[in-house]
Amino acid sequence: MSHAAYVFDAYGTLFDVHAAVRRHAGDVGENYQLFSEVWRAKQLEYSWTRALMGAYRDFWTLTEEALDFTFQRVPGVDRSLRTKLLEAYWKLDCYPEVPAVLKGLKGRGAKIAILSNGSPEMLKSAVANAALDTVIDDVFSVDALKTYKTAPAVYDLVTTAYRLYPNAVSFQSSNRWDVAGATRFGFRTVWINRSNAPDEYGDLGPSLILPSLDAL
Ligand code: LAC
Repeated sequence: MSHAAYVFDAYGTLFDVHAAVRRHAGDVGENYQLFSEVWRAKQLEYSWTRALMGAYRDFWTLTEEALDFTFQRVPGVDRSLRTKLLEAYWKLDCYPEVPAVLKGLKGRGAKIAILSNGSPEMLKSAVANAALDTVIDDVFSVDALKTYKTAPAVYDLVTTAYRLYPNAVSFQSSNRWDVAGATRFGFRTVWINRSNAPDEYGDLGPSLILPSLDAL
């Protein structure tokens, strides 16, 4: 099935959020996986609480605040790594299949876009670092609305810009909660279940579950 637009979540879907800590795993030490998971979990928690409160701070600020919490939560990690870890977040690796998959979909005439909580600067840097600039038509950031996923207005950024009905958009995310929000909005959704996680949000299920973007 072909869609007019293929829209991708950024972090965890195109870009590996754990690449920053992994790059410095030797310095972070044996708890590096826990460290990376706490950092990511707190970053997301801050986005949800701030969206509900109407107290927006951009995603970069939340990323910094989450990292500072993580240093306290996972003791024994050298705090002087703060700058290096934050720098690495601007140049996260994309998953290996991403360039070819996006090019293939674009070759079929679809619009290719990112819809992300990330700040415009973070997203620009990640896209450039992965050399995806020429294949991605548009980068939609929640920053335009000063709120976060799963607010319906966020998903509406795409349909308004492209003048499409939601079901003409195929939305891909590895984040199950994001898939729930996008399904609720009316997108056709594909859950990229990279970590073979159990399903949740049973009333808001995806059209398709794939282990990576490859089969798209
Ligand atoms: C994003 C986060 C949720 O890119 O991964 O929107």
